[in-house]
Amino acid sequence: MTSTESTESSDSSAQTPAKAPAKDPWDLPDVSGLVVGVLGGTGPQGKGLAYRLARAGQKVIIGSRAAERAQAAAEELGHGVEGADNAETARRSDIVIVAVPWEGHGKTLESLREELTGKLVVDCVNPLGFDKKGAYALKPEEGSAAEQAAALLPDSRVTAAFHHLSAVLLQDPETDEIDTDVMVLGEVRADVEIVQALAGRIPGMRGIFAGRLRNAHQVEALVANLISVNRRYKAHAGLRLTDV
Ligand SMILES: NC(=O)c1ccc[n+]([C@@H]2O[C@H](COP(=O)([O-])OP(=O)(O)OC[C@H]3O[C@@H](n4cnc5c(N)ncnc54)[C@H](OP(=O)(O)O)[C@@H]3O)[C@@H](O)[C@H]2O)c1
Repeated sequence: MTSTESTESSDSSAQTPAKAPAKDPWDLPDVSGLVVGVLGGTGPQGKGLAYRLARAGQKVIIGSRAAERAQAAAEELGHGVEGADNAETARRSDIVIVAVPWEGHGKTLESLREELTGKLVVDCVNPLGFDKKGAYALKPEEGSAAEQAAALLPDSRVTAAFHHLSAVLLQDPETDEIDTDVMVLGEVRADVEIVQALAGRIPGMRGIFAGRLRNAHQVEALVANLISVNRRYKAHAGLRLTDV
C-alpha cells in the first residue's frame, strides 16, 4: 500500500460515522398486551388460531358474520376468548387475522375498510381450487390474497402469515406444541416483527420474515402441496426453515 492510499483510508474512516451494529433479527417486540381479532373465527383455522393464542395468554376476539355464532364459538374455546360480529371484532382489535374463505375474502375486507383503518391486518387466506386431482393454487388478479387485501385496505398495515398451519393440530387440546415455522410477509419491518412475535407466542412456533407481499403467492400456493403431503402420509404437515 502506498502512503497516499494509507492516508486516504485513515481519513475516510475518520469521517465515516461508525456503522450501527446489525439488528438481531430475533429481537422482537413484546406483543403480549395486544388484542387479536379473528375475522371468520368460527371456522377451523380461525378457531384454532384463537385457541392457541388465547391459551398462550393473548386477549382474543372471534369474529363472525353473526355475533351469536361468534359468541357460541368463543364460549366453547374458553381462555377468555370473546365473540362479536366481524365489524366489532375489527374495531376492538389491534391485530386482525383474516381467516375467511377465499370466496368471501374481497367482499369481507371491502365492507370492513373503515373498521380496519390503522389496524395490523394478518392475512392467512390460501386461494385454492379443488378437483378430482386434488388441491391446486388459484391465481388471484392482484397476485395473491395478501396483495388483494393490501389493495382493498390502503389505510391498514397488511401482512401475511399462518398459511401452513394445520387447523386440526391447532384445535387439539392434547397437542401442547405446534412444531412448525410461520413465514411472515409484509412491507413494513416493524409490522412484520409484531406478527413474528405473535407467532412466537405459540409453543413450538417461530415467526420468520419471508419477504414482501409480492412474494405471497407462492407461500399461499404451497398449501396445495401440503394438502397432497397430508393426503399421502395421513399427516398434518408443517414447515421448518433450516439454518435460521
Ligand atoms: N383450515 C386450515 O387448515 C387452514 C390452514 C391455513 C389457512 N387457512 C385459510 O384460512 C381461511 C379459513 O379456513 P377455514 O377452513 O377455517 O374456512 P371456513 O370454515 O370455510 O370459513 C371460516 C369462516 O368464515 C366465515 N365465512 C364463510 N363463508 C364466508 C363468506 N363468503 N364471506 C365471509 N365469511 C365467510 C364463516 O363464519 P361465519 O359464518 O360465522 O361468518 C366460517 O366459519 C381460508 O381462507 C383458508 O385458506 C386454512
